Amino acid sequence: MTAVGVAGQSAEQDFSSRLLESSQTLSYDPITEIDWDAALPEDQYGLSPEWSTLYGTPLWDELTEQQRITLSRHEVCSMMSTGIWFEMILQQMILRDQYAKNPANSEFQFALTEIADECRHSIMFARICQTLKVPAYLPKRLVLELARFFKSTAVGETAYGATLVAEEVLDVVQRDFMRDDRVLDIVRTSSKIHVVEESRHMKFAREEIKEHIQGKNKLQRQFSALAIAVVGYVIVSSLVSPKVYDSIGLDRKRAVEAVKKNEHRKSLMRNGCAGLMEFLDEAGLLTRPAIAFYKRVHMI
Ligand SMILES: [Fe+2]
Ligand SMILES: [Fe+2]
Repeated sequence: MTAVGVAGQSAEQDFSSRLLESSQTLSYDPITEIDWDAALPEDQYGLSPEWSTLYGTPLWDELTEQQRITLSRHEVCSMMSTGIWFEMILQQMILRDQYAKNPANSEFQFALTEIADECRHSIMFARICQTLKVPAYLPKRLVLELARFFKSTAVGETAYGATLVAEEVLDVVQRDFMRDDRVLDIVRTSSKIHVVEESRHMKFAREEIKEHIQGKNKLQRQFSALAIAVVGYVIVSSLVSPKVYDSIGLDRKRAVEAVKKNEHRKSLMRNGCAGLMEFLDEAGLLTRPAIAFYKRVHMI
């Protein structure tokens, strides 16, 4: 018998019970699921080339096939490093949110399940970077320090909103990687694992946001909307480090300039974020100042 529908349970607890049940039937252990000893064919990309930051620019046309492949492997590892960084932030936020709450609640149990998922994900991403012999690419020092403050203070819809934005952005790209046979097998399998497990996290975050936003006054809502948008801006602009261009001997400044003008990338981002923007709008979190931040990184 499942916990779903147990008399006296709130709708919110029912929801978490279903997520818990789903994680019990469909979860992966990346250590055994991924073939870590598989060959890494030289002609395979680290990510779908269309998601390379330079794809669609004149600079991309100048690159040899081998340079494109090397760049794509550094770019995917940079995304994974950013993923690890943010997963560490959100694990701490969730843990703080659940502090001293009733352990018998399925909401509490799912929150801890999510932390366990994130822990496995971060190890998986770390191991892929190690296998591909790509160094860790961390966000800028200032971003790291601001995030140190944010992760220690964010609560409620701000914490879950930031979580959702990060998860949605990774979800968009990984959905393409997981079905692309030009992409390395370890990246494809890790993307599949992440997409499956994160879909529950995103459902949970959406529920938590809706729950926390209720009863908040206009000023609080405005503040949360802006804080979430700033996090979205920081995540998208930190997703791929400019240092990746060193791996193929490209001038960093020239590459960054090309990315800024990359209309192909901007439209991929906008399309990928449409569902997220719709949700934020419905939740009353798409205020004018928030939109300005999302626009700067082409999420809208
Ligand atoms: Fe994750
Ligand atoms: Fe997650």
